Amino acid sequence: MSESYNTQKPLLEIKNLKKYFDKSRGLFSKEKRFLTAIDDVSFNIYKGETFGLVGESGCGKSTTGRTIVKLYEPTAGSIIFDGVDLATVKEKDMLPYRRKIQMIFQDPYASLNGRMTVTDIIAEGIDTHKIFDDMPDPNKAKQERIYELLESVGLKKEHANRYPHEFSGGQRQRIGIARALAVDPELIICDEPISALDVSIQAQVVNMLEDFQKERGLTYLFIAHDLSMVKHISDRIGVMYLGKLMEVATSDELYEYPLHPYTKALLSSIPVPDPNNPNKGSRIVLEGDVPSPINPKPGCRFASRCEYSKSVVYRNEGSKSFVDRLEGRIARVTLLHPETNELIVKSNQVITREIAEYIDSLGKDEFVVGRDRCFSETPELIEVKKEHFAACHYINDLDGTGK
Ligand SMILES: Nc1ncnc2c1ncn2[C@@H]1O[C@H](COP(=O)(O)OP(=O)(O)OP(=O)(O)O)[C@@H](O)[C@H]1O
Ligand code: SF4
Ligand SMILES: [Mg+2]
Repeated sequence: MSESYNTQKPLLEIKNLKKYFDKSRGLFSKEKRFLTAIDDVSFNIYKGETFGLVGESGCGKSTTGRTIVKLYEPTAGSIIFDGVDLATVKEKDMLPYRRKIQMIFQDPYASLNGRMTVTDIIAEGIDTHKIFDDMPDPNKAKQERIYELLESVGLKKEHANRYPHEFSGGQRQRIGIARALAVDPELIICDEPISALDVSIQAQVVNMLEDFQKERGLTYLFIAHDLSMVKHISDRIGVMYLGKLMEVATSDELYEYPLHPYTKALLSSIPVPDPNNPNKGSRIVLEGDVPSPINPKPGCRFASRCEYSKSVVYRNEGSKSFVDRLEGRIARVTLLHPETNELIVKSNQVITREIAEYIDSLGKDEFVVGRDRCFSETPELIEVKKEHFAACHYINDLDGTGK
């Protein structure tokens, strides 16, 4: 896809999509606890492109895929497919879209019904969508189609009457791909289709998906937790962290010029065989806890681990006292009492008046706190460069000196 993305009409437009799971403890519990699996996520996928979605385990990638196909009902937002907002389409009217949008599931062991033969598994969609019902001999047409599909995914006719447990993980994933292709979809959500496979098989499956894309003009949402897996296949990539999209750019741009501190950390953790690769060397080790996705606090989701979310309060600056300037800020270091080792304040904890006075009494000249906006305002995804989006308040000032 060489054309500028801005000039095309998207096949899929995700707008402010949210999926919250209710984790309230009891039916009558006063405190509502929502797990914000996806929180205000927006992106487009253009016809014929592969959009890669990456991020660590639990950041909401599968939930995004499952909400798009409405295996999960969205909490809010739009899922506009070919001009129709699927979020507003009732379950009984979803059938035609279920044909156009298929999903390849993350776990090839759990996603195939062990009691069905390969033929039954692939035929299910063909039957549901009555694909050959107008043919003179629908059963024959269906069987031929199944053989053809098996061959195209590198399996054999003889496999048609076998059961999933008779296959390896790679072969099962091929069956999953044949099942998705059987109904001639337009968009396939590939949820980590290669993560469970041996490295030697991963490339074969990726190549196969690419061939199908060329032959059939397919569009993919390709989910992976590792950036190295999506680079090759993706035209553009979205980086997710704790339910939020942090960066979106073309694959090459994201690799060459990552902007977001989280993307930089993800990229630096990939072993780099190529000595000319710009991300070689400086490995960023992510420190700090991943915050809970339940009732998240305002601010940037990455703040507790971001090296740029730090700023320093000095004893001798401005007119207000050191204590006044520390109170209410977020500590970005853990402070233990120098003699007793007693915990005074933990990193990412609010500095109370009492703690501020304690820090003051230790005679420290400076203390590392969080940049206020990182901990109080959630950054929006904004276009920083042409077709390169990032969600960070300080994206143009990431030298660590701001306050
Ligand atoms: N059906 C569900 N009910 C409640 N919580 C859920 C459900 N599905 C997912 N979650 C939660 O939503 C968050 C996102 O999960 P999701 O499976 O989308 O992550 P993921 O990015 O696909 O992770 P992985 O790389 O491990 O597959 C997690 O905190 C998870 O526990
Ligand atoms: S908003 Fe703050 S915490 Fe978030 S990425 Fe930017 S600098 Fe880091
Ligand atoms: Mg997943």
